[in-house]
Amino acid sequence: MQDKNSIEISFEEYLNQLKLNQLFEKLGISDSELLAKEVEYFTREEAEKRDRIVVNYFGKEGVNRIVNKIIELLFAPPELPPDASLLDVGAGTGFFTVKIAEKVKAMLPEARFYAMDITPAMLLSLFKKNTDVKPFVGVAEKIEESVKEARAHIDIPLKFDVVFSILMLHHIAQPEKVFESIKKVLKRDGKAIVIDLCEHSFEEFREEMGDIHLGFNPEEVYKMVRKTFSNVEVNVMPGIRCECSRRSAELFVAYMQNNP
Ligand SMILES: C[S@@+](CC[C@H](N)C(=O)[O-])C[C@H]1O[C@@H](n2cnc3c(N)ncnc32)[C@H](O)[C@@H]1O
Repeated sequence: MQDKNSIEISFEEYLNQLKLNQLFEKLGISDSELLAKEVEYFTREEAEKRDRIVVNYFGKEGVNRIVNKIIELLFAPPELPPDASLLDVGAGTGFFTVKIAEKVKAMLPEARFYAMDITPAMLLSLFKKNTDVKPFVGVAEKIEESVKEARAHIDIPLKFDVVFSILMLHHIAQPEKVFESIKKVLKRDGKAIVIDLCEHSFEEFREEMGDIHLGFNPEEVYKMVRKTFSNVEVNVMPGIRCECSRRSAELFVAYMQNNP
């Protein structure tokens, strides 16, 4: 077993030597200013308090529903291999990643979890939780390229059995690119799950929460995803809303399988 301190030092060293602007350049990111603004927002407003924010949005009951929905889809056929590799994209502080990892590992102890995010400060909060989820910095529109860069320092597979993403999509300028990017790193018959907000009218969320999209119409999401995945379902999640100061929005779940 690796020494706990050496893991901590090596992850912090990894973050210390990382230059985000250089990473964006290597990944060929065209709108790096927009990404830098997202990073700045999440570092300043959420890295220290994201977990509390999520509980305020959904309550414990809502959080459990999100986690249980993901578990239900993960354990629906086709079966995951015992040593499945699972990637959370836009994992933030790993609030959901850790809960999902605990449940999956109770049934598949060999499963391995990876958490990618663009904001190093969010991942540092995840790292401090001292779990065996492996965090690394990367861009959702360029997952494959991000993995290749991070592999210089961290042991990460090139392909995954599962890719999931929770509440990240409305922060992405061109969401269709995320689905294309997910498909490239999914194994054949791999599963992808994306949960995000349904469309709402709270324009102020752009300023208050760094949002780029005011949620999405699930039918539009279906059409967008169908361009990349032939096997997709998009459904509104019943009995759950994201509540913020008496403003609330529904959630949708998009479930994709990577078969021809
Ligand atoms: C609203 S938070 C959700 C975090 C986590 N999934 C959760 O539910 O608590 C959105 C996350 O997406 C990340 N993010 C935004 N744009 C991204 C991008 N282009 N690539 C990767 N992560 C991104 C942010 O840094 C932030 O951690």
